Amino acid sequence: MYEKVLKNAAVYVDGQLVSTELAIDSQKIAAIGNNLAGKESIDLKGCWVLPGAIDAHTHFSLPFAQSISADDFFSGSLAGAAGGVTSFIDFTAQQGNEGVIDSLERRINQAKDLAAIDYSFHACIGKYSEAVAEQLPQLYEHGINSLKIFMAYGKTGLMQDDAGLLKILTACQKHKITVLVHAENGVIIDDLSAEAIKNGQTGIEQLSVTRPVHTEVEAIRRLAYFSRLTGCNVYVVHVSSSEGALEIAKARVEGAPITGETCPQYLYLDSNLLNGPKGHYYSCCPPIRCAASKERLWSHVSKVLPVIATDHCPFIKKDKDTWNGSIFNLPMGLPGIETLPSLVLNGHLQGKISLKAAVDVITCNPAKIYGMYPQKGTLLPGTDADIMVFDPEKETIISSDMLNMAVDYSPYEGLNCKGWNIMTFLRGEIIYSAKSGWKGKKGGGVMIKRTAPYQGLFSSSDLS
Ligand code: URP
Ligand code: ZN
Ligand code: ZN
Repeated sequence: MYEKVLKNAAVYVDGQLVSTELAIDSQKIAAIGNNLAGKESIDLKGCWVLPGAIDAHTHFSLPFAQSISADDFFSGSLAGAAGGVTSFIDFTAQQGNEGVIDSLERRINQAKDLAAIDYSFHACIGKYSEAVAEQLPQLYEHGINSLKIFMAYGKTGLMQDDAGLLKILTACQKHKITVLVHAENGVIIDDLSAEAIKNGQTGIEQLSVTRPVHTEVEAIRRLAYFSRLTGCNVYVVHVSSSEGALEIAKARVEGAPITGETCPQYLYLDSNLLNGPKGHYYSCCPPIRCAASKERLWSHVSKVLPVIATDHCPFIKKDKDTWNGSIFNLPMGLPGIETLPSLVLNGHLQGKISLKAAVDVITCNPAKIYGMYPQKGTLLPGTDADIMVFDPEKETIISSDMLNMAVDYSPYEGLNCKGWNIMTFLRGEIIYSAKSGWKGKKGGGVMIKRTAPYQGLFSSSDLS
């Protein structure tokens, strides 16, 4: 007799929904089949049983322009759980000349008593140095297979120049580390920003002027060339434009092991919102793009961009309001972890992407790229029983009042979502249900030991 059996639902098996049952025992999925007997039977009539979602890009407690992102590891992971997210990957954010492993240990200490779902970190550095290179071999020993760098943010000293970029990719290829890149041409952005400041033009419309699409396209093209040259796996974070996605597609066909993610904000929001009275509440880097680009971006989801992650980096209205009319003082970023699964699955229910694409981009694809598969990201006997129970009939009008993230607005306010998560299991335990609310534990998440990536999602074979 199994501990729990989920009955009367459609279970996501081999890329499709199958009318069957799923049993859980000792934190794992124990069986999938019919007539399973459990000490506890949970009736999920009309629901979809899907793998728990993975948000591969979050920024909890991130300092940015005099503010700190509003969610800490507890509030952010609780909100994620309410939305159907069971794992997240955050960043180590090196402080000054802090060692790569020191910054990892600092972030683990910050997370371990707070995170309520399972987690890992991408190592994240500022400028390349010999000291950084020397520590790279230790990353796998700590269960980390990824390193994040920036091609922009010159003013904060994070921007990598081309020499540093090439050195990092060369070193990471040697150690089989995937390099995540914030790909915007920072030199051009800094030049356009200086020009805007000189002309006294600092309003929200300047976000698109100083960070135009070509800065993303050019950065991805340069990066892709270095990826092909070195053979280093590269993952472009928060691809905002269809033009940027096309650069990835072209480069992958030419043999560069390059892939990437987009985020819900680039699929649902467009630059018209920036022109509204509260336009600065929609500020993020890269900025949200025009309506036509947003529509075209959907066509690249799954094949070219096998992951949708959130870049969750929320700031309360009071913190956004400190901008005082200048984008150069704005804390950039948007809330997202809690609405990730529903917005992506809504994309399927609205006919924009297939069910398989919608599920895979938030479950098995990030798990494969970040070395967590099959422990995470799938419903196979023997794997962690991380489960989201999605009710496709539960129409929900998004409003910040119904959400758990520690932020007092939602950029998706008023959006009608076709379905919603109603129950979340973390390693076999119900940590959230729509009926009873939060049932998990502060600090109940564990750090995931990640291994080498699945190479298919970096090759052109998975493009066709
Ligand atoms: O605006 C954004 N994206 N804020 C978070 C930091 C980053 O660049 O990912
Ligand atoms: Zn970024
Ligand atoms: Zn980010």
